[in-house]
Amino acid sequence: MEKLVALCKRRGFIYPGSEIYGGLTGTWDYGPLGVELKKNIKDQWWKSMVQLREDVVGIDAAIMMNPKTWEKSGHVKAFADPLVECKLCHQRFRADKKDEINEHGKNNHPGLIVDWTDARQFNLLVKAYLGIIEDKQSEIYLRGEITQGAFVNFENVVSSTRVKIPFGIAQIGKAFRNEITPGNFTYRSREFEQMELEFFVKPEDGEGDKWFEYWKKERMDWYKSLGMNAGKLRFRKHEDTERAHYAKYAEDIEFDAPFGWSEFEGVHHRGDWDLSRHNLSYVEEGEKYTPWVIETSGGVDRSALFFLLNSYSEDGDRIILKLNPKLAPYKVAVFPLLANKPDLVSKAKEIYDNLKPQFMVAWDDRGNIGKRYFAQDEAGTPYCVTVDFQSLEDDTVTIRDRDTAKQERIKVDRIHKYLEEKLT
Ligand code: GAP
Repeated sequence: MEKLVALCKRRGFIYPGSEIYGGLTGTWDYGPLGVELKKNIKDQWWKSMVQLREDVVGIDAAIMMNPKTWEKSGHVKAFADPLVECKLCHQRFRADKKDEINEHGKNNHPGLIVDWTDARQFNLLVKAYLGIIEDKQSEIYLRGEITQGAFVNFENVVSSTRVKIPFGIAQIGKAFRNEITPGNFTYRSREFEQMELEFFVKPEDGEGDKWFEYWKKERMDWYKSLGMNAGKLRFRKHEDTERAHYAKYAEDIEFDAPFGWSEFEGVHHRGDWDLSRHNLSYVEEGEKYTPWVIETSGGVDRSALFFLLNSYSEDGDRIILKLNPKLAPYKVAVFPLLANKPDLVSKAKEIYDNLKPQFMVAWDDRGNIGKRYFAQDEAGTPYCVTVDFQSLEDDTVTIRDRDTAKQERIKVDRIHKYLEEKLT
């Protein structure tokens, strides 16, 4: 984990939030490589959940919502974690995180008996103030889950599109939670991104169960299709005591992280909790009913972290990020063998310019070729194209594969096709 955190900073995947002012706990900034990785994850998600489906449409709802939304959804009352405080140093922890509590005692107060306060409920919604006149400002909440945007637009979507139950509303966006103990790098942050599907079905046990199982499989298969190691993935059923206030039943997809098996997507049977709380219903052939909701709720940041951990490998002192090419920030890097030979540079530049409209392409003319390969392996770039002296004679280049380190020679006019075949 430490090695990955260092790599993320060094190579521009992820930096601590507002670092020059000492940071802000629970916030992270994505650098030039991180933003590409996250965008690729979101694009792949959107493609499989919206573009390729006839029964799902997308929306992008506002982060700031009328506060009544959060009263009705039950979040003002029930979106809380149990909090305990160490009576010796006043540090606060989630009462259900027994390991963190034990570690705190061992590491911070060795040899002492640590006394803890009784657990009290701590609401996770982040408050904000809207309006320009101070005493007339209204208190709102930054959304604690992106989900409610799909419910408050349920009628808008039904009346403005041709969707019919069963159908889904997909969305990707930021959510905010006043987490008691942010930690494990980006894993538990206070600002993060979610990618969610709210799938509306007839309120019948058979339908609810069928779609719950269907979406569990779809979501697990999606992670595997993008290269997550099946042996590091599992489902975990929620116990009755840990289920969110809205869930009839729920299962998490977990990853075997260095800090233990950890949830990064939840599949939830929300029943009619949300639509009935918002007083919404659906009419089908004259019959009015409140649909049930099967939800798939993934974290973009947690997925990015786990795709990185899953792909991290070492070969001697070489670090290789074996990211699926669809997720890799750069698809290809182009180098002139020597930076001080104008013929090589201009030929390489021409290839770079030709590839740019279609692919994210990196350019590197620093140091020697070995160092450039080293740098691209760390960035997860699947292919490197080098223009050498032979290129000037026969219009060929070498193309190197990140995972095998093997090179082959191909004609310049084959590069596009070669990459298309490998990347799609
Ligand atoms: N709409 C349902 C919902 O929000 P959740 O299990 O609370 O369910 C869904 O959150 C996903 O959002 C999680 O599986 C995780 O990937 C991500 N997530 C939740 N809290 C997070 C946090 N503090 N930091 C980063 N990601 C978080």
